[in-house]
Amino acid sequence: MATALRGANYRNDSMILGFSDLKKLRTERPLVITGGRGIFVIDERGRDYVEAVSSFYCAALGFSEEELVEAAIRQMRALPFYPSASHRTVPVVMELADRMAQAAPFPNAKVAFATTGSEANDSLIKFLWYANGYAGNPERRKVISRFGSYHGGTIAMTALGGGTGLHRSFGIPTDDCIHVSHPTGAAPGESEDAYSDRLAEEVRQAIEKAGPGTVAAFFAEPIATASGWAVPPKGYFQKIKRVCDDYGVRFFLDEVVTGFGRTGQMWGSQSFGVTPDCFSCAKGMSGAYQPISAVVMSDEFYRALEKGSDVNGWFAHSGTYHAHPVPAAVALKTLEIFEKRQIVKHVQSLLPIWNKAVDALRDHPLVATTRRYGLGGAVEFKPTSEQLGGNISSLKVAGTAKKVYEAGLEAGILTRPLDRCIVLAPPLIITEAEIGELFQRLRRAMDMVLAETKGVGS
Ligand SMILES: Cc1ncc(COP(=O)(O)O)c(C=O)c1O
Repeated sequence: MATALRGANYRNDSMILGFSDLKKLRTERPLVITGGRGIFVIDERGRDYVEAVSSFYCAALGFSEEELVEAAIRQMRALPFYPSASHRTVPVVMELADRMAQAAPFPNAKVAFATTGSEANDSLIKFLWYANGYAGNPERRKVISRFGSYHGGTIAMTALGGGTGLHRSFGIPTDDCIHVSHPTGAAPGESEDAYSDRLAEEVRQAIEKAGPGTVAAFFAEPIATASGWAVPPKGYFQKIKRVCDDYGVRFFLDEVVTGFGRTGQMWGSQSFGVTPDCFSCAKGMSGAYQPISAVVMSDEFYRALEKGSDVNGWFAHSGTYHAHPVPAAVALKTLEIFEKRQIVKHVQSLLPIWNKAVDALRDHPLVATTRRYGLGGAVEFKPTSEQLGGNISSLKVAGTAKKVYEAGLEAGILTRPLDRCIVLAPPLIITEAEIGELFQRLRRAMDMVLAETKGVGS
């Protein structure tokens, strides 16, 4: 491959990578990916890896979808850029907004585009404050989210995310944020019903404590990826939504990971049988081939924005690359592919195989438990002695999960290590045979770690 070793002589003196050990970057060449084929990515030495987590839970259609490439090229040729703002737009954005509204899980949806998941979430909270201001409730500002959640990397989203380690280490102000427990599992002997009652009651008490007139919204991912695919107990969202309704608190969902088929329905909200007032989405929206995200809102919520716009003569919010025509064309094509190839049905058909394969890992000596929902899940490893008593959503990635991730580089599989877990969420186009390949490689990685740790007090 002529381009395979491009950059081989770079010394990495200038590059900073997020979620990376910065000093290691100065001394050790990072994994350099140069190509992709379906669910596989290929590094500069020609080795392939099963991308078992769709990179950042986003490459829903794999890494070589020609129709998405063609859609981008076509749009680049027709009109490579024009902003959608100031009462101007381009046809592809108009069409995408309509298609997104049709795909939304509630009628008459309104759609505002942004570039990343973080930005969509940020916009959603900004819109909320704006809407409340013009609805005569400017004091309703506080947002309830969960410890262990992740909503993005901007200052506001780091604050709303539940990583207390992140709040501390970046000195993030968390005014207007209220963090409640996220579902990590019922107490011994507690039923799912009793557990979801307890969590909903915690939300009620948090609202009461903050002062009901100061709380604006509850915001959650249908499945908390950052907590190791934490699946809510039965009735959880319905009960919390009821509490929100009692206090006039908005119910928002972050569908950045769960949107676009991951849970076996188009939206996570549909899988959990609850309808949000508004939600955000990104990632799978364009198969991650281009950066685009959206805030999808109910007509009722939108009307408060229009009220503000009436007062001011405009809605003073935009971004140069919001609804960029090239990502919009790719997102539109993604929606077409989802329909044409029935991607959601394909996911549903794989679930029995996926579930069985995830569950089968429980027999491995390193494994404490596994979780799964939709085409995703997590393997939680037995804690090492230094992790015992620690928080599962601590900032540090260490212990067995990190070792399994690193062994995966040898075994040809990329996973996402998060504290005690590795998370799995492969491209939705994966086949039954490829699921077999994924778990074979993962088990090989786990066996390598087991062999290495045997006799070291595991
Ligand atoms: C649930 C969730 N929300 C929001 C985000 C932020 O999206 P982005 O990285 O596109 O800003 C992420 C990213 O992983 C996420 O997992």
